[in-house]
Order: sequence, then C-alpha cells, then structure tokens
Amino acid sequence: MKKFTVLLCLLGFFSCQPTKKENPAHAEQDKQWWKEGVLYQIYPQSFKDSDGDGFGDFKGVIQKLGYLDSLGITMVWMNPFFMSPLVDNGYDVSDYRAIHPRYGNMKDFDRMLEGMHKRGIKFVLDMVVNHSSDQHEWFKQSRSSRANLYRNYYHWWPAEKGKPPYRHSLFDPEGAWEYDSLSNAYYLHTFAEQQPDLNWENPKLRQEVYNIMKFWAKKGVDGFRMDAFQFASKDTTFPEWPQGHEKEFIKWYGLRPQLHEYLKEMNQEVFSKYGVFSVAEGAGSTFGDAHDLVDPDRKELQLVYHFDAVDLSKTPAGYQLKDLKRSFTRWDSAFAERGWLAIFLANHDNARLVSRFGNDSPQFRAVSAQMLNTFLLSMRGTAYTYYGDELGMTNIDMPRIEQYEDIEAIGKYLAALAAKENIAEFMKVLNYSSRENGRTPMQWNSAKNAGFSTGAPWKMVNPNYLEINVAAQEKAPNSVLNHFRKMVRLRTNNEVLVYGKYKLLQAEHPKIYGYTRTLKQDKRLVLLNFSADRVNFEAAELATIANVNINNYDSYNIRGNRIELLPYQAIIFSLK
Ligand code: GLC
Repeated sequence: MKKFTVLLCLLGFFSCQPTKKENPAHAEQDKQWWKEGVLYQIYPQSFKDSDGDGFGDFKGVIQKLGYLDSLGITMVWMNPFFMSPLVDNGYDVSDYRAIHPRYGNMKDFDRMLEGMHKRGIKFVLDMVVNHSSDQHEWFKQSRSSRANLYRNYYHWWPAEKGKPPYRHSLFDPEGAWEYDSLSNAYYLHTFAEQQPDLNWENPKLRQEVYNIMKFWAKKGVDGFRMDAFQFASKDTTFPEWPQGHEKEFIKWYGLRPQLHEYLKEMNQEVFSKYGVFSVAEGAGSTFGDAHDLVDPDRKELQLVYHFDAVDLSKTPAGYQLKDLKRSFTRWDSAFAERGWLAIFLANHDNARLVSRFGNDSPQFRAVSAQMLNTFLLSMRGTAYTYYGDELGMTNIDMPRIEQYEDIEAIGKYLAALAAKENIAEFMKVLNYSSRENGRTPMQWNSAKNAGFSTGAPWKMVNPNYLEINVAAQEKAPNSVLNHFRKMVRLRTNNEVLVYGKYKLLQAEHPKIYGYTRTLKQDKRLVLLNFSADRVNFEAAELATIANVNINNYDSYNIRGNRIELLPYQAIIFSLK
C-alpha cells in the first residue's frame, strides 16, 4: 500500500485489508524460481561413467552438461555421493564432507557445479540426516561406551531396562532396535541396521548438521532435499504402542511437534542465511501436516512431495485413472492458496514411470511416455523428471531373488518369507515394483553397455537399449526425447502452466484425464488419453479452441464439443 493510503486507513477512513485481486491465482502470491523450475533427478552411479569402472561419476555428468542444457531443465537433484559403505547406495553416509571416490573428488564436484551454474541450472543436494551410517565417526564413538561424548548423537536403550518396545523398521524385518554388546544397549534404526537414527533432540548434533549444510551452501549448492526427515523427531520416551500400526508409521514414528522447531532453526541457520531452497521428502499424513512443513509464513521448508499418487501402482494389477485424478486434484486444491508441491510419478525409490503408469509394450511405449511427460509438465507444482523418463526407459525383468541386491528388496523378501506369504506372487509384485527397475544405467546409444560405460556396469543395462537410447531419439523429430524438450519449453515459456489455476473435467471418466489451467486471460485445455483405445471426450471448452500447443500425434479430430483421442494421445490447446 502507498504511504498516503496507509495513513488514511490507519486514521480509519477505510479498511486496512489489502483488496483481494480479482483472480487471485496462486501465482500472484509469490513467484519463485523453484516454482518455475523443471527439475531433473540424476542417480549418479547410473548416469554416465567416465573412467570405465562401471559406476557413473561427476566427470561423466560433466561430459553430459550439454545434454542437460539441451533438455531445458533448470534444476538438478542428485542422489547422495558422499563417503559411504554403500549399504543403501549412499543413503548411509559415513562422512558428509567427503566424496566417495567412485564419483570423483571435490575438484570434480566443483567443476560439475560450476558447469551447471554456467548453464543456468541449479543444484539440489540430498541431505541424509535422519540417520548416518554405522561407520560414521560419530556412531563409532557413540557405541564405544555409555560415557562417550557422542553417546547422545543417537538413540540408545540400556539393556538392563529389558527389551525396548517394538518399533517397525522400513528395511529390517526384525524391527528397528539393534542390540550392541559393546555397551550392552540397543540403538534405533528406522531403516537398515547400518543406518542408526541421529538424535535431533541433541542441540550439539543439530549444530553439527547445520555446519555441514553451511559447508555445502558456501560451495554454492542451491537447495537441499531433506531425506526421510519426518522421522527426525519422535517420542523418545518410546512408549509401548498397539501392534499393527506399520501402515501409519509416520504418525507413530515421526512428525512430533519438535520437528517444526528443528526446521525453523535450520531455516534460520542455513536456508535463509544462504538463500537456498529446501524440499521435504514426504508430506506427513494429512494436508495439515504438509502445510505445516511448507507454508511460507512458517519459515521452515519450501516444497513438499507426497506419496499418494506414486504409491497407487504397486502391483501388476496397476491403478485406476480416477484414483490418480482424485489424488492429484485433492492435493492441488489443498495447496491452491498456500504452499507448493512437487509433481512426480517416479524416482529412485520406484519402478519406471512408463511401466507403471503408461504402457511399456513396443506399440504404445513411446506415445504413453509422451503422454505422461505432458501430464507431469502441465500440472501446478514443480515438475520432477527422473533420468531416463525423458526417453521412456522401462522396467527390466528380474524374476529371481538372487538377481536383487537392493537392501529394501531383500528386506521385503525376508519379511514375506517370515509371514509365509505366497512367494511366487510376491516375486511378481517385486519384479514389477522394485526400485531396482529404476536404477539401470542411462541409455545413451546403441554401442556396448548403452554408451554408459566402457567397463562392466554396476547394474545390468536394460536390453532394450538398442531401441531406446538418446542417440536414436535425437534423430527422430517425434521421439519421446524431443517431445519432452518441446514440453519443457512450453512450460517454461507459459506461466499459466506453472501458476495457473487447475480445474478437473469429468472426474469419473475412466480413460481421459482432462483439465484446464487458467491464469488471468490465459486459458489452456489439457487432454490426456490414459488408455490404448480410441476414446471420445466431450467438453464445452472444445468449442473455444484457439490453437494447439502440443500434440503427440500429427492430427486431432474435433467435432463441436467432442474430440476423439487416439491411444495415449496428449494434447494441449490454448482457448479463446
Ligand atoms: C529415502 C530415500 C531412499 C533411502 C531411504 C533411507 O526414502 O529416498 O532411497 O533408502 O530414505 O535413507
């Protein structure tokens, strides 16, 4: 408000409430680079190997900076590359200031970061500080004796008190407490036994973590992803709880009010001081929890991602489109005025996008991958793309448990054995949903090992690399890759696709996902066929089409208010 107006309103001449804008689209509240950004996730060991040891590395990423630039993406989130015994592929950190040699060294990191920044790409670091590795110096000290200065960096339960109350572990079928004979006590690990939970109640531990974050912020990283951070605050009196609450583990095991004290402190100490942005993995169990993490006035985190939608397709039976619509629509409306979401359907903890939410048969793989990318890049929220999804990379086939090395997959298998589940059925589900599907090497070309490495890759290359690879798709104007680039450009050049209001059309339609995005006078219609059939769809908006923004087929067929969509057709129109 201008000074004069402020004076008049203070004197009581008229209301001091700012007048509401006519069309208060989310946008107008608060524009931010991280809302407008298109994020690309790199799983570093699988992206590009420069030295033939079979693991992707920083120099490999440096070789591919031109490729990243050509995608039009503006942010990179890289999974952990810190020093680690690699029990959980780096989510078990033994030194947060050192780099695991298989990725290179600090100079390589600095060059990679500089290379990204030169191209206008921001870098998001994965902070794994709900737990450390059991090989971290803090834990070695902590376990050495009850009197050690680092004892309170972790959660211990003295054995003379008897067995601690049962706690569910996400990776260990035997539960989250591990007995350690060195000091005759149990320690807590929400994930694997080699990933002991850090004790956030200890202010010294918190300062150590902030110092680590400052170290990376000073290096120039632009953001932090807080891994599994909802578990950082728990009830440390460890009460007995009723059995059978594993499905609601966040409510029982994390998200205590102190979480917000820690995040506010972290924001003051790190985020606001260095102007970096932050994203929470997980969004609690209610919209209220999610808002408490990211609403701007709370000064905690900025972006949150929930698992409701990504978790819809966990078995070969797939999912119902109306559930997917309901999930995205509910979350959108809960965040329409405040807070901000990440939009994603795949990452390193999941199987491949096109195999779970599209159709990975040779006939429909490309069109359905294009359709899914059109979807993810035309929703309100920061769009996330997992490496390889810009090509439509698919699941691999791993029917036998001996083929698995991931700690989560093996943990689930042991739990299924213990519960005497039908193992043949279990393996079908694992083969479909295991996160190993999403970790195969990037498919660069049709040369040996898909051009990923000259040595033996750490994980098998998907045999379909001969058809699905960057080089082949570069040459084909209508490839999944080139469609992705067009879609990124469309989003980046049209604020309406970032900030515009979202309105769902025909919620119950089983095959078509249709919606509009509106920002002031700018209105777009998005129509996505999630099926392999030709489908008719009616919408009044079809009568007001001005032009086509993007279409993964050469043509479209409209009569009046009705359109016939081809299998997995994805089309965006501007409306008059
Ligand atoms: C997060 C990560 C996952 C990891 C786990 C333990 O969920 O995304 O990959 O295994 O935390 O750190």
